[in-house]
Amino acid sequence: MAERTLSVICICGSLRKGSYNRMVMNALPALAPSNMNLAESPPFAEFPIYNVDTHEANGVPVAVQKLVDAIRAADGVLFISPEYNFSIPGGLKNAIDWLSRVKDQPFAGKPVAIQSAAGGPLGGGRMQYDLRRSMLFLNAPTLIKPEIFIGNVSTRIDAQTGQITDQQTVGLIRQQLEAFAKFIEERVAKR
Ligand SMILES: Cc1cc2nc3c(=O)[nH]c(=O)nc-3n(C[C@H](O)[C@H](O)[C@H](O)COP(=O)(O)O)c2cc1C
Repeated sequence: MAERTLSVICICGSLRKGSYNRMVMNALPALAPSNMNLAESPPFAEFPIYNVDTHEANGVPVAVQKLVDAIRAADGVLFISPEYNFSIPGGLKNAIDWLSRVKDQPFAGKPVAIQSAAGGPLGGGRMQYDLRRSMLFLNAPTLIKPEIFIGNVSTRIDAQTGQITDQQTVGLIRQQLEAFAKFIEERVAKR
């Protein structure tokens, strides 16, 4: 039987032009198994700050709906995000809050994986645990291992070229994407 191509959308938690997390995201297609197709998600930078009153009065903004549709259409979602103040960056959390409030919220049953790169030595670990809790609440099955925490990121990624220079990190990312493909396949087969 022909191998099914798995579509994964990547949500980058940093809006910064020179973002290390974006560099990681851009490096992923070359490290993914041959049956995984990775694409960047529609942007969330322009989402208004979530407010139940304006949501109820004006409905779901077009930009939010685009991201909802992209998540629904994908086989899996991969978050790549820094840690801000030991937690999820505000813009990304706001996006998740919006996504969580649409009818039949799109994370339910959707396979999720997480990567993070940060300046600190823990590489965004605290952000990951908070993001895992949000995904747990939203019924998104989230891959456990291997975990990708890219700590002291400026020593592992060349900011000029965007290349991941640390080969251990490269190897772990390959392993995680391979594990994520299997994780998705197991769940797609059950649907
Ligand atoms: C508002 C803010 C909060 C931050 N908080 C943390 C933190 O809690 N832990 C950490 O390791 N780095 C923290 N940093 C440093 C980021 O890890 C670093 O700037 C990283 O490069 C951001 O990711 P990016 O390059 O993808 O934008 C913070 C940076 C900002 C701007």
